[in-house]
Amino acid sequence: KYKMILDLDTGIDDALALAYALADQDCDLIGIIGSYGNVLVEQGTQNSLDLLALLGASNVPVYEGLSHSSTTSNFAVQPVSARIHGNNGIANLKIKHTPKKIEKQSGVDFLIEAIHKYQKDLLLVPTGPLTNLAAAIKKDPTITKLIGHVTLMGGALTVPGNVSPVSEANIHQDPEAADEVFKSDIPLTMVGLDVTTRTLLTRNETQIWRNLHTKAGEVYADLVDYYIDAYKQTNPHLGGCALHDPLAVAAALEPNLLQTVYLNIKVDTIAPFEGRTIGDEARLNIPATTTQAAINVDVLRFITKFMERLTTLFEN
Ligand code: BDR
Ligand code: CA
Repeated sequence: KYKMILDLDTGIDDALALAYALADQDCDLIGIIGSYGNVLVEQGTQNSLDLLALLGASNVPVYEGLSHSSTTSNFAVQPVSARIHGNNGIANLKIKHTPKKIEKQSGVDFLIEAIHKYQKDLLLVPTGPLTNLAAAIKKDPTITKLIGHVTLMGGALTVPGNVSPVSEANIHQDPEAADEVFKSDIPLTMVGLDVTTRTLLTRNETQIWRNLHTKAGEVYADLVDYYIDAYKQTNPHLGGCALHDPLAVAAALEPNLLQTVYLNIKVDTIAPFEGRTIGDEARLNIPATTTQAAINVDVLRFITKFMERLTTLFEN
């Protein structure tokens, strides 16, 4: 059985990723690391704890990750994030605070320890900035060869960015960290905007959850309806919201949902292209063996699974 760690900056699609991972029977969610991005790290970590409690999974430990990128001294939430995910990352809903506490061990140390313990059985899914993973690699470079696989949500290779014409939000938060991760020999799949913007959820689906008349169904319907409305303001043509983060979890569990290409990727760290994920010209003649980028997704199979799993989870 696979072990999974999620590294989340818990906004709305991160909340969906968390639910997807919990609903999977073939994998043990052994921990969640809180990150900054959609929200401050404290808020994101608390959101994960509260959502786990809502979903009856308070047994999953939650660790706090780093609060800002390695090249900045602090972090402030961008107005665009607050608009898309709400000021608290979860559509300004007040879900009950669980009395359960955040673990004492740091997220970075937890990650390093878990990789040594589970090695190839361990899957890591970061759906926020890559700050924690880069810090873990820096602290213990041996982990890149030990871990099973990293399936990350971030980047844009064949399509424009979403926070700048060339950059996707997660990578843009900490381009240096992302560059270090992409240039390491860690086995990874980049699940970027190339594929995530093709997976859409609409109000038809959230109505199904609402009709369950359970607390979890209602909260998740409220979350996603808020996200759909925010999406409508910037992408009126889309007709739904993109399932960025849950697609990364699904692909970690079932890589054949995606079609990928092997490519040595680097990340631009200097303005005006900071955060751009692009083929690394310095490694053009070196065959890529560890880094894949997703270029296509079986949308129907993914959405069907996504709805089956989450609806079953919210029913109980
Ligand atoms: C990514 O940025 C965040 O706002 C979302 O949660 C997702 O991880 C999409 O670019
Ligand atoms: Ca995210």
